[in-house]
Amino acid sequence: MTQHALIELLNDMTLEEKTGQLAQVPVVSCIGGISEPTGPMEAYSLTPELLKFCGSVICDRPVTAEDTANAIRSVMEEQPHHIPPVVMRDVIHGCHTVFPIPLAIGCTFDEAQAEAMGRCGAIEGAAKGLHVTFAPMLDVVRDPRWGRVMESPGESPALCAAMGAAMVRGTRGDGCDNKDRLAACAKHFVGYGLSQAGQEYAPIDVSRTELYNTYLPPFQAAVDAGAELVMSAFVAIDRTPCVCNEWLLKDVLRDRMGFDGVVISDWGDVEQLANHALAGDLSEAAQLSLQGGLTMDMMSMAYLKHLPQLVREGKVSEQAIDEACLKVLELKNKLGLFEDPFKNTSLEEEEKVCGCQEIRQAAYEAAVSSCVLLKNDGTLPLQSGIKVALTGSHADNGDILGGWSADGCYPIETLLQSFQKESRVALTDTANADVILYAIGERQQETGEDASKTKIELTAEQLDELKRLHALNKPVVLLLFCGRPLILTEALPYCNAVLNVWFPGTAGAAAIRALVMGDENPSGHLSMTVPRSLGQVPIHHDRLSSARPFKENSGFVNRYIDEVNDPLFPFGYGLSYTTFAIGEPRTVAPTVVEVPVTNTGDREGAAVVQVYARLRHGRLMQPDKRLIAWQKRTLQPDETQTLTFRITPDKLRLYDAAGNAVEPEGICDLAIGDRSDCAFNAHVVF
Ligand code: NOJ
Repeated sequence: MTQHALIELLNDMTLEEKTGQLAQVPVVSCIGGISEPTGPMEAYSLTPELLKFCGSVICDRPVTAEDTANAIRSVMEEQPHHIPPVVMRDVIHGCHTVFPIPLAIGCTFDEAQAEAMGRCGAIEGAAKGLHVTFAPMLDVVRDPRWGRVMESPGESPALCAAMGAAMVRGTRGDGCDNKDRLAACAKHFVGYGLSQAGQEYAPIDVSRTELYNTYLPPFQAAVDAGAELVMSAFVAIDRTPCVCNEWLLKDVLRDRMGFDGVVISDWGDVEQLANHALAGDLSEAAQLSLQGGLTMDMMSMAYLKHLPQLVREGKVSEQAIDEACLKVLELKNKLGLFEDPFKNTSLEEEEKVCGCQEIRQAAYEAAVSSCVLLKNDGTLPLQSGIKVALTGSHADNGDILGGWSADGCYPIETLLQSFQKESRVALTDTANADVILYAIGERQQETGEDASKTKIELTAEQLDELKRLHALNKPVVLLLFCGRPLILTEALPYCNAVLNVWFPGTAGAAAIRALVMGDENPSGHLSMTVPRSLGQVPIHHDRLSSARPFKENSGFVNRYIDEVNDPLFPFGYGLSYTTFAIGEPRTVAPTVVEVPVTNTGDREGAAVVQVYARLRHGRLMQPDKRLIAWQKRTLQPDETQTLTFRITPDKLRLYDAAGNAVEPEGICDLAIGDRSDCAFNAHVVF
């Protein structure tokens, strides 16, 4: 449809129709069935009279192409202009074929993996008749107590930005047929990851400088990459909830960041304004949110029920409604919904597309690239001909997909099933084994939304069993499943090797077996710091400088008296079955460095060369070191490749409290290595 035709349509719509376009209702209200909501499902008293105006449907439970088609049809039939609803669902790390959790995708340090995950999720989601995914989640995460760290690419703004942009590109699938793409919704805007003490839905406190420098950049990257929607966060900035924060949604998101699409609330968040004692009733909540710049109301029914009356009372202008409605119509138009809301899909098409060989292979590759080898005394990879015991809660358990996997294809191959296919080793019990594989960790429901924890070590039972296995005097390999960095300080001495496999997804078992057997070489590097003790949390590689930096053997410096400052494993850390030497960097132009990297071991492997930076002088405090660039390269034994890093000013640019750019000037020290605690070894000059 042309823009002109869209405006004509808008002009022909009644007030109820226009406000209805701004409302999202659950799929159960259109086609019935049982809902599995991600928020409390209250009695929404949705009457058929209200439903016929609704602009969007949220699938809060797994759906088929038939379900979505039925929902679309039922809404369109009643909608006076037969406008199709836009159908949304959380496709976070794959859909039918589940990919590793996004925190693990961050560990790949490979944007191609993030893009592939977005692409495959979009292809499968679209085959189910979805139009929009509530992804990528781009909260910068520094507190592993928070359950939702699993949904983010990690603690580094630069890594989140690069991975987020790649996921958006994959989801959008530019150049692909409309039926193979979804629109992307970057969330949660903004600062949700700062929830105090890592507690779910707790308040946050963040300065504007931190917003500009740390929390907004991933969203800017997603907007620049073409994210069509942004979801407001459950938290508040300057004591004004994001869902109705005019400064945030208008001045920052629209005017400063150039976002032109739909801003949608999180689940029931408009109604929740009452919990902050900001809105006396649902009508006032609707008024505040619309005036604050929120386009679409997810699951509060506040817009649907109250906006028409608010306009009639003169409390909300019809122009504001028109502007918001046009944004929703534009989204539908971009997605081609006026031509084919059903995306030409069907149950047969869905079956053909979902879980196809290409997508499964992509999920396998992502799982292989995201596992992080934390310790290895040479026990891994396993040698052929040995006897192996596979034990622990996750040894024969399909609970390896991670938080957003309700659409996943079941049953899932377990580690045991995968190892039963392995002819190079013989499976036996722990008493008779040469090597013990101890597969344990978190359960899916211990991570994700509403899964904050105050204890992130192994449980007492897990630790006791580990010690018992260790006492058998044979090498023990810990295969660690988790949705957050787990504290391993006590466990580590009892392990000969530790492979952190996160929640690896559908192809997880095959990927882990290939890594353990040495068919694949680990290449994941931590996207989040692993603390040594809980008291260090939040701990991350890019903390701001201290007025009294730590100095060995001195008091009154930045330290604890009962714990060292260093984490157990720094951000960026990860071992391989081969070794790499990162040579002396060479500054070849004022802001260009070259660095040679050599595979010094005896097998092919992928190195992740990371560049950390700090300006020597500046108008604003900076992190002592922060990740600004990286490259992942596969090298044959003895092969050397020279990597070129262009340190462009945007990588070092900072923003002051008013949002003004502070350009980098002078000498910028660089630490180039394969983990964030590498030493400064080069500099460039701006
Ligand atoms: C609540 C979550 O915070 C959000 O991330 C998700 O997209 C919505 N529920 C919809 O499921």
